[in-house]
Amino acid sequence: MELKIPEHIKNLIPYEPGKPLEELERELGIKNSIKLASNENPIGPSPEALRAIEKILPNIHRYPDGSGFYLKKTIAEYFNLRPQNIILGNGSNEIIELSVRTFLNPGDEIVMADQSFIVYQIVTQSANCKGIIVPLRDFTHDLDRMADAVTEKTRMVFISNPNNPTGTAVGTKDVERFMGRLRDDIVVIFDEAYYEYVERKDFPDTLKYVREGKNVIVLRTFSKIYGMAGLRIGYGFARDKLVGYMNRVRQPFNVNSLAQIGAVAALKDKSHLEGSREVNRKGKEYLYGEFKKLGLNYVSTEANFILVKAGNGRKIYNRLLKKGVIIRSLDGYKFPDYIRVTIGLPDENKRFIEALKEKI
Ligand SMILES: Cc1ncc(COP(=O)(O)O)c(C=O)c1O
Repeated sequence: MELKIPEHIKNLIPYEPGKPLEELERELGIKNSIKLASNENPIGPSPEALRAIEKILPNIHRYPDGSGFYLKKTIAEYFNLRPQNIILGNGSNEIIELSVRTFLNPGDEIVMADQSFIVYQIVTQSANCKGIIVPLRDFTHDLDRMADAVTEKTRMVFISNPNNPTGTAVGTKDVERFMGRLRDDIVVIFDEAYYEYVERKDFPDTLKYVREGKNVIVLRTFSKIYGMAGLRIGYGFARDKLVGYMNRVRQPFNVNSLAQIGAVAALKDKSHLEGSREVNRKGKEYLYGEFKKLGLNYVSTEANFILVKAGNGRKIYNRLLKKGVIIRSLDGYKFPDYIRVTIGLPDENKRFIEALKEKI
């Protein structure tokens, strides 16, 4: 018998995961390919995190600590907040979904930028909410237009800062003006997955809003600079009451024990963090220089990836793929003439540029 699938689920366009690297290599008959497609840390995880994880491997027959006690304590001390202000997730992705499921009713509106992290739109539709999509301005969130787009049905706003896939960030002044214009019964999500890479000096201190008791959720992750994307762990800051409601909806053991122990160690490993930043900074300068030599326009980034206007992105993706260099084409993001490349290790960046040149 045919199931009656809800319309908003039937119409969902699934997120397309890439094929496993080994499978791609087998299909294309290539070896030693490099992946510059998912904004992962090319250095890998902190050795301290690996050591801590190895130590507890024999204990994985036990359920993880459902309260994330030690990790929340560590994060709270690091950012000078209280454990009650912290929510842990199976990647920050889970907290995005948790926020919508906790605070919204079907039919409520969520304001978000057009070319931003695609998961916002998927989560919005799967909760049968309505996305109000606002175009970017100069590849950047247009916070004035986003504030204009708010109606009495609006209950949430997503701001990816820095923005994936453009790498741009909004600054303190714009965020302050935006917050000043917003009704206080709207939850603002600042998704700061790339926070640790940001270099601009006027990047907003959004934890301030949490401390002031505003309806703000700040999202961070261990998937990017901390190099633990495969473990799935992210965290969010919000005032106690919001965290309390999200904890009612959250699955009791959503964050596994290896992720929790690894994250505690990773957060304390300052040299891994600094080293990762340095590799990114140098890689960025190298790539900017090469793009300039090639006469390619790029968008200055505050993250660990660069949006480059390189021509037909789908074609370039396929051509580079055959050379074992995996990047992102952005036709799905309505940037058909662009590619997004994750900043890699020096050798990887060089190999990407060589492969790109062959195309030009
Ligand atoms: C803007 C943004 N937010 C969130 C995430 C998800 O990260 P996580 O691995 O913590 O779920 C990503 C990952 O690509 C991202 O680009």
